[in-house]
Amino acid sequence: MRVCARASPSLALMKYWGKREGGINLPATPSLALTLGGLETTTLVEPAQGDSDIVVVDGIERDSARYAPFFAEVRKRLRSRLHFQAESRNSFPGGSGFASSSSGFAALALATARLVQELEERAEPSLDLLSELARVGSASAARAVLGGFTQLPAGSPRAEAFLPAEHWPEFRVVAAIVARGEKPLSSRAAMEATRETSPYYNEWIIDAPRLVTKAKDALESRDLPRLGALARLSYSRMHASALAADPPLLYWLPESVALIRACASLRAAGIGAWETMDAGPQVKVLCLAGDLEAVLAGLSAAVGKLECLVARPGPAPEVFIHEEGLAFPSHRLPPA
Ligand code: PMV
Repeated sequence: MRVCARASPSLALMKYWGKREGGINLPATPSLALTLGGLETTTLVEPAQGDSDIVVVDGIERDSARYAPFFAEVRKRLRSRLHFQAESRNSFPGGSGFASSSSGFAALALATARLVQELEERAEPSLDLLSELARVGSASAARAVLGGFTQLPAGSPRAEAFLPAEHWPEFRVVAAIVARGEKPLSSRAAMEATRETSPYYNEWIIDAPRLVTKAKDALESRDLPRLGALARLSYSRMHASALAADPPLLYWLPESVALIRACASLRAAGIGAWETMDAGPQVKVLCLAGDLEAVLAGLSAAVGKLECLVARPGPAPEVFIHEEGLAFPSHRLPPA
């Protein structure tokens, strides 16, 4: 039997950066995010022949140590003895700051849990349990098992729905591909380095919840100028804490800075464009559908041949049994 799951990545409007001590991957800051409809990870899972777990992402077999805590948690929580063979494909550049670990672990959690349910006749796992399993792989993945706008409170083992995608259908995210290729340092290692060596880490942890409370209010009232300004503060303070680590963690490339400046010029010209960044050089710009063309033009003018992906508040993942002998399933969502 093979199970397929398709999930979209979770982009944090307000960032999680840093882990609580003493838990498995518990976030030290609350985050507020949206599921990026238009970008997708498709994952096929079947039982493995031997007693090791195998994960192939975009054609490359991945280091099993990265996945070991996740699969151990799946077996423990679902009382299973199965081992898994998974193949995963991204519709966007993976591992380079487009949150592919969020959609990747969300799809993996959903597909493995369904496989256990079918083969070992277990009850259907709750969404809370699925979110907790995904979190062990990658905390942002706890949010990607849900659609629409989501939150992951500080210290929480699972994410929660905040508002459905329909709350703000005109909301758009332009994800500018500044660089392809996988990032040299994982978010996990970078967060640890920030916690251990940055004198600004504690201040970041204290400040982040205050910003998130305000951002939730701005999101509820669909106030993009207010939400965009708070999103800028969130990523800037996250990056400031990382930049102050020893050695410094600098993710920005010249093109990233050019795009940040292009957003400022767009806003000065009355076009709503607010950027955010994660643990990579890519720049994601928050805007409304009515301004999309102007935003794309403004960003391209700043960098020249720029490739952009456009996403909107997206649906929850889907999971289904994949018939034996069929080709690898295509992505569910065409790029928006
Ligand atoms: O879930 P991870 O380990 O990939 O870390 C995600 C960290 C950020 O993308 C920078 C922020 C976030 O909340 O998604």
